[in-house]
Amino acid sequence: MPSRAKGAAANGAEATSSSSLKITVNGLPIDRPCPPERILLDLLREDLDLTGTKRGCDLGTCGCCTVLVDGRPTLSCLTLARLVDRRSITTIEGVTPVHGLSTLQRAFVEHGATQCGFCTPGFLVTATALLEERPHPTRSEIIDAISGNLCRCTGYTKIIEAIEAAAREGR
Ligand code: FES
Ligand code: FES
Repeated sequence: MPSRAKGAAANGAEATSSSSLKITVNGLPIDRPCPPERILLDLLREDLDLTGTKRGCDLGTCGCCTVLVDGRPTLSCLTLARLVDRRSITTIEGVTPVHGLSTLQRAFVEHGATQCGFCTPGFLVTATALLEERPHPTRSEIIDAISGNLCRCTGYTKIIEAIEAAAREGR
């Protein structure tokens, strides 16, 4: 399931010796120098101004920083930017339509699945990957997929119901 792939980019790829980073972010090619110690979350938020991806724990436990690396949910706070060289990154900005909201985002609003909203980008990115892989997940598959995302506000039921509703509508 997508949640179990988190951190895969940090663990499974080989570092390159080049300081030049070539990645695709939300469909746009990026080619820029990158210090070897740069964390993907910092690259996205500070260098590319993509602040939709949130920094929660910075320890790999909350899921707020989740982005897609080649379509797989990945914790950007634990991932060195150089390890995603030549990969495709999708952030919350990339899963949001230019005009309006996606079906999944609308379902979150309609089901009250977002309160303070701080965790919401991570949930939406994770759920987007889930529905891509499994358009009609069971409730237990949804619970498993979002198990790496923490929310202090909603109690999770509304989030699960929103994902189920989006699945019914076809995301
Ligand atoms: S900020 Fe990355 S898991 Fe919490
Ligand atoms: S909506 Fe507040 S932490 Fe999830």
